[in-house]
Amino acid sequence: MIPAPPQLDKPPKTAAPIHSLLARRWSARAFADAPVEIEQIISLLEAARWSASSRNEQPWHFVVARKGIDSDFDRLLGSLSDSNRIWAQRAPLLILAVARTTFRSNGKPNRHAQYDVGQAVANLTTQATAIGLTVHQMGGFEGDTVRNLFAIPNEYDPLAVLAIGFRDHPDSLPTDLRDRELQTRQRLDLSSFVHSGTWNNPSALLHDHSSAQLREVNSQGARQ
Ligand SMILES: Cc1cc2nc3c(=O)[nH]c(=O)nc-3n(C[C@H](O)[C@H](O)[C@H](O)COP(=O)(O)O)c2cc1C
Repeated sequence: MIPAPPQLDKPPKTAAPIHSLLARRWSARAFADAPVEIEQIISLLEAARWSASSRNEQPWHFVVARKGIDSDFDRLLGSLSDSNRIWAQRAPLLILAVARTTFRSNGKPNRHAQYDVGQAVANLTTQATAIGLTVHQMGGFEGDTVRNLFAIPNEYDPLAVLAIGFRDHPDSLPTDLRDRELQTRQRLDLSSFVHSGTWNNPSALLHDHSSAQLREVNSQGARQ
């Protein structure tokens, strides 16, 4: 059974609309005590599997661990930083994302491997949002520990652990984490990362868009 919908929404302020699947995603820490069904887990992995990748190399690898079912869960949990473990232990599912950093065909370095795994995880995350799940990615884990625990060869790079589950009410968290859960989401402005001509020169596109928005607001005001 799929639990009640998320207890807290944190819709972003955007300069133009974005799809609700993207707007609904955020990195929650409060997980409900409800399992993720096998069918749902396979959907997440299929979403990752059908991602684009440089030369169709598909460099993504995952260790999937369900709480109370797979012993890998406790091993992954033990690899997390203390500050992550405190909330991630409530998640019913942990997934370790790993990149193969060399090409399967010739063993040469694949400089897009991490890029491709990030994209696969983004697609997995969007699929998770679509079926009511939340994904919280974590870089705070011991890479060397998981390499030893899972006998991961050198040409593979453990990148992130994902905590996945259904959201719970923020009040279910200890006070300090509850406060973080309720914080407003922050982002840099588009002008800080959209360039044109020379680096750090904000694109004229953004100026044109703001002007068009202003004209629209003014014309709405005039109509009222
Ligand atoms: C690669 C990566 C590593 C992250 N590592 C951590 C982490 O160790 N602990 C944590 O609480 N959040 C972690 N996050 C979550 C980010 O802090 C979060 O995505 C960011 O603050 C933006 O918030 P939002 O996802 O709610 O929009 C990580 C996210 C990514 C993509």
